[in-house]
Amino acid sequence: MSLIRLDKLISTAAGLSRSDAKRQLASGSVLVDGCRIRDGSAQIDPDRQTVLLNGRKLYYREHLYLVMNKPLGVVSSTDDPDSPTVLTLVPKSLLRRGLFPAGRLDKYSTGMLILTDDGSFAHRIVSPNHHLPKVYEVELDAPILSDALVAEFAKGVYLGGGERSSPSQLEPLGPTRARVTIYEGIYHQVRRMFDQNGAHVLRLHRVQIGGLPLDPTLPEGGCRELTDRELKALFTPNGQEECR
Ligand code: URA
Repeated sequence: MSLIRLDKLISTAAGLSRSDAKRQLASGSVLVDGCRIRDGSAQIDPDRQTVLLNGRKLYYREHLYLVMNKPLGVVSSTDDPDSPTVLTLVPKSLLRRGLFPAGRLDKYSTGMLILTDDGSFAHRIVSPNHHLPKVYEVELDAPILSDALVAEFAKGVYLGGGERSSPSQLEPLGPTRARVTIYEGIYHQVRRMFDQNGAHVLRLHRVQIGGLPLDPTLPEGGCRELTDRELKALFTPNGQEECR
């Protein structure tokens, strides 16, 4: 990794503002390889040097990649005047400035959501040009599932308002339960795909993004860092390299 300013390293790794990091430096709370350093502009190699803040070792990662099991009623944005946002569920130790959800789930949808502070990574997840599959389980209010509807989803569904989805997969799981795979993120897309065909979605739960299923051990409202293996799996749907 390249060199980084000490005040930036401290603010990023400890979740502090840059001015709080500078205050910590000025008060002598920072040791680099055992030497007290007060100069925030000192250049540090995070792979080779050890930085302690008040005796606690700091681990610097340029970007954060988190997975959340979003519960009902929270909104997938960074701030909202009326409802709690997904950021309120991020553990304090993982909160950092610039964190945002990579793609949205509606307020009343649940399941897998990725948060990051890496804009180009988020773009690979949400951009329809990358064709990254998003898989949902839905519960409907009417038994409309049929071979004809499966064929309709495979062609692309008219969504109303002059919009049409690209081809998707519908897999019935029961009279009113199905699994749907889409490759883009049009506003309220899955709900509209069923509305146009005579049923309302009662429950919508995202179970997979790209090649990575939602961790069944992550509780509702839980949020943790993605492992390197999981990050790789995200972009290798079904073991294939991502379409570009
Ligand atoms: N489609 C929807 O309609 N809602 C979601 O939250 C995700 C996909």
